[in-house]
Amino acid sequence: MPRIPFEQLPAGVRRAVTDKTGAVHRAVTVHGGMNSGIASVLETESGSVFVKGIPADHPQAGAQLREAAVAPHLPPSCPHLYWHLECAGWSLLGYEAIDGRHADYAPGSPDLPLVEASLTELQAIKAPADIEIKNATDRWADYAPPGTLHHFDGDALLHTDFAPDNVLIVNGRALLIDWAWPTRGAAWIDPGALALRLMDANHSTEEALAFAGRFPSWRNAEPEALSAFGTATAGLWREIAAEAGTPWKRRMTEHADAIAFALNNVS
Ligand SMILES: Nc1ncnc2c1ncn2[C@@H]1O[C@H](COP(=O)(O)OP(=O)(O)O)[C@@H](O)[C@H]1O
Ligand SMILES: [Mg+2]
Repeated sequence: MPRIPFEQLPAGVRRAVTDKTGAVHRAVTVHGGMNSGIASVLETESGSVFVKGIPADHPQAGAQLREAAVAPHLPPSCPHLYWHLECAGWSLLGYEAIDGRHADYAPGSPDLPLVEASLTELQAIKAPADIEIKNATDRWADYAPPGTLHHFDGDALLHTDFAPDNVLIVNGRALLIDWAWPTRGAAWIDPGALALRLMDANHSTEEALAFAGRFPSWRNAEPEALSAFGTATAGLWREIAAEAGTPWKRRMTEHADAIAFALNNVS
């Protein structure tokens, strides 16, 4: 959705924010991401805070609630959530502001080992039982080949959306942000999702899959599970591209097809 500056939020919403932060001296809209109707770093009386938000009646508002619910369960590689506000038709999250940059996934990028370290840390986290969280078996139900859905089941906490603008690099660390799609499932799903994004940053299929293989969950997964993932992901991206065929979505579909082909033709 279009992103508005902080100043254009309704006065009541801005007041609710200043109740949390103290006076706002400066607000800078940040780039990256598509879903947030506002995404701004605020310099406030109490320090800096990153605020992202969406109208409460927007179809993606549920994703924002999921993000708020999962925040207390996230590893240290994720910025700290200070507060969550539902006010005057807006849903807002206030995070520790990170003065970083988006990850560079290009082959040989020094960011890649940092991303590997953060995802390794995440791989050890179990999906919390006490919050509503999506199940991988539901998300992939329509796409997994018949008889393979059980492979997607598991108890790992998955991020699933490794767009490079969902990873902030700061002080030699990669921070995983934008938890709109927290999911409970098999741990190997996240390395697979990351591999697809690496391909969009010019990794060959072999390089991207080799990177996934750095994670024990992927290395030790059953070949049938990984080929099911390839087929399912290709079907999912074909559907996304068919709905609105932007060049980026068509490219992702090609990467997913290539991954599916590789994973279904392992000797
Ligand atoms: N804690 C943070 N500190 C500073 N900037 C952030 C922070 N979290 C996100 N951002 C920036 O805001 C952008 C949008 O945030 P994100 O959580 O990815 O929302 P969405 O993609 O749903 O709009 C990110 O790509 C990043 O550039
Ligand atoms: Mg994002």
